[in-house]
Amino acid sequence: MKAVSILTLASLLSSVNAHGYLTTPSSRTRLGFEAGIDTCPECSILEPVAAWPDLEEAQVGRSGPCGYNARVSVDYNQPGDYWGNSVVATYTADEIVEVQWCVDNNGDHGGMFTYGICQNQTLVDLFLTPGYLPTTEEKQAAEDCFLEGELKCTDVDGQACGYNPDCTSDEACYRNDWFTCNAFNANTNRGCQGVDGAAEGSLTFNELVTTTYGENIFITGSISQLGSWSTSSAIALSASSYTSSNPLWTTTISLPVGTTFEYKFIKKETDGSIVWESDPNRSYTVPAGCSGATVTAAATWR
Ligand SMILES: *[C@@H]1O[C@H](CO)[C@@H](O)[C@H](O)[C@H]1NC(C)=O
Ligand SMILES: *[C@@H]1O[C@H](CO)[C@@H](O)[C@H](O)[C@H]1NC(C)=O
Repeated sequence: MKAVSILTLASLLSSVNAHGYLTTPSSRTRLGFEAGIDTCPECSILEPVAAWPDLEEAQVGRSGPCGYNARVSVDYNQPGDYWGNSVVATYTADEIVEVQWCVDNNGDHGGMFTYGICQNQTLVDLFLTPGYLPTTEEKQAAEDCFLEGELKCTDVDGQACGYNPDCTSDEACYRNDWFTCNAFNANTNRGCQGVDGAAEGSLTFNELVTTTYGENIFITGSISQLGSWSTSSAIALSASSYTSSNPLWTTTISLPVGTTFEYKFIKKETDGSIVWESDPNRSYTVPAGCSGATVTAAATWR
């Protein structure tokens, strides 16, 4: 029987919002995560991805077939201390294998995945050479090679190949040969839960608003952490970084990831009167991203 060695075949052709990574067999990003050098393996993609909804259009860029995480400046396309030095799984012909991937709920959809086998060993060897970082062209060639050897969902008997719930029949992404994950739209999120277990996101509100002496800026909104629209329970912003050229008022609060709320900034005048921002209400959803990540909602008074 012919044995096929699976090198990292996590061809992470990302969709627009969801981030994910291959966990079984262990992708290089998983190995980097386990080694403690990457808190966000699901972020190892080329961003921004403008190709959606056309799954084939995205070029790999510096992400390469093995991933590049700009947050920690780790390029998984080059063998490192914890990945790329040994084969992670070996399969035999006709074997049925279980694979597993993880999709973060950064977006409200499940994203899509495909698996592939690249049969050009010359190309693959470039990713196994200690001390060598493949060029962009070599990364793209390897990605193309994996796509040529795509293992389509629809080729597997008995496999339920669903459509991504974010794609409609008139869109290029409306295809079921890639594996998708729709559990966000189901009643359970077990199938697509966040991979980092981040319970809270740290959200910074930056508001540019010119104020006069004695005027203060507060934020209030639809959730209890923002005072439930009460002006007396509103959260004060700090003017510690305020300058005339950058009239910045800011505050940071912790909120559970995934929280959606509406809010407005208000001015409290020296006489105690309140000036509300004009309509409409602002709205925000705390992204379920990477543990330790802070997000910023920046705005200008209106
Ligand atoms: C494998 O890739 C290399 C580098 O792109 C190329 O020169 C070679 O022709 C390819 N081999 C096959 C069998 O396609
Ligand atoms: C903003 O939210 C408040 C509180 O829910 C609501 O009363 C008001 O109508 C909203 N404004 C707009 C323009 O939707």
